[in-house]
Amino acid sequence: MTLIPVPSAAIIVVAAGSGTRLGAGAPKAFVGIDERSILAHALEGVFAADPLQVIVVAPVGREGEAEAELRAAGGDRADLGVVVTGGETRQSSVAAGLAALWGDVRTVLVHDAARALTPSSLIDAVVAAVDERTGVIPALPVVDTLKKVDDDLVVAAVDRAVLAAAQTPQGFPRAALEASYAAALASGAEYTDDAALFAAAGHGVRRIPGSERAFKITTGADLERARHLIGSAPAAPHTAPRPAAVLPRVGVGTDVHAFGGDGVLWLAGLEWPGEPALSGHSDGDVVAHAIVDALLAAAGLGDIGEHFGTSHPEYAGAHGAVFLSRTREILAAAGYAIGNVSVQFQGNRPRFSPRRAEAEGVLSAALGGAPVSVSATTTDGLGFSGRAEGIAATAVALVAAIGQERPGTLER
Ligand code: CTP
Ligand code: MG
Repeated sequence: MTLIPVPSAAIIVVAAGSGTRLGAGAPKAFVGIDERSILAHALEGVFAADPLQVIVVAPVGREGEAEAELRAAGGDRADLGVVVTGGETRQSSVAAGLAALWGDVRTVLVHDAARALTPSSLIDAVVAAVDERTGVIPALPVVDTLKKVDDDLVVAAVDRAVLAAAQTPQGFPRAALEASYAAALASGAEYTDDAALFAAAGHGVRRIPGSERAFKITTGADLERARHLIGSAPAAPHTAPRPAAVLPRVGVGTDVHAFGGDGVLWLAGLEWPGEPALSGHSDGDVVAHAIVDALLAAAGLGDIGEHFGTSHPEYAGAHGAVFLSRTREILAAAGYAIGNVSVQFQGNRPRFSPRRAEAEGVLSAALGGAPVSVSATTTDGLGFSGRAEGIAATAVALVAAIGQERPGTLER
């Protein structure tokens, strides 16, 4: 068991607001940025900082959910956390948090859960900057040109150089903060933030540089900004169709021809003088025919019988390269480019490797330059190819849809 020393600093994470301006139909802290809520993200930053007592101030009736978020985010530090119930105003919610401080705590940070993406380094920086008398706020320079207005009349310019935009966490020495809250309770005054309440009691406040990521999620646009920053789609993915992703497609083709044709062998786009011919409607080039079937299958365009079979007498006796260049035209007309082709034939003859490069060059040229690799194997005397009755070939082809919407376009 790991014993965690009692921290001398605490952070009160106020999460009890209703989120009226966000209008998400749930208390703001429980609205999802991605699959995790605003509170979960805020607590992730808090627990990534140096160890602190963590007091989560939850809306009435939502304490159990807040506890679950606390346990999930805290991991083995979850015992440093406690959930209390918030009040009607932010100020009363902070007061509820103050009542839960452990005795050893000397420095108190007050933090809006709504600043969900606040970096842990900012939390550490605030803790480090607090001293026994002075409060600390993170603040950013004001970038807009500011005007003092009276209704719709601009009455004065305001020098933005003397202004800063306050963020949280704001840090304070504990005793002075408790005294300031007691004074505010006694007077009934409401302040816009803890630094104002602390200053009203006569204490000094310093500022340190804030963080762009510590912005407060107030409106729907702020929530979108947070989603964008964490690279997340909206929590409700069904509201808009996802963009289509074009994926390549593969196809497989096989062919078998028996020996017994007239003339000499044609195989892999080459003539093989002295070798027995394969029989068939065309030249019987099983390598070329397997490639044709693989390409047509990859593009979903039927098979070799449909495009080159006996009902197409113009291909009687045609060589493999003719089939391939015509197949390439069929694919191009349908919007497909050929990626590459791999083909292997099984046969005892011919001895292939001396002419491999030549064959690959012819086949590739017929396909417009797409790479074609050809290998040859025997079957240890088994089967029809082992008995030298014929040759079989198997091809795999990769194609990609180009330009127009084709069956290769997949919704992901
Ligand atoms: N807060 C709180 N208790 C309240 C009011 C606000 O703990 N009674 C918390 C909110 O949960 C938030 C932070 O104070 O983390 C800053 O408040 P704000 O952004 O105004 O949040 P909401 O009050 O929830 O939003 P709205 O004003 O739009 O209703
Ligand atoms: Mg509010």
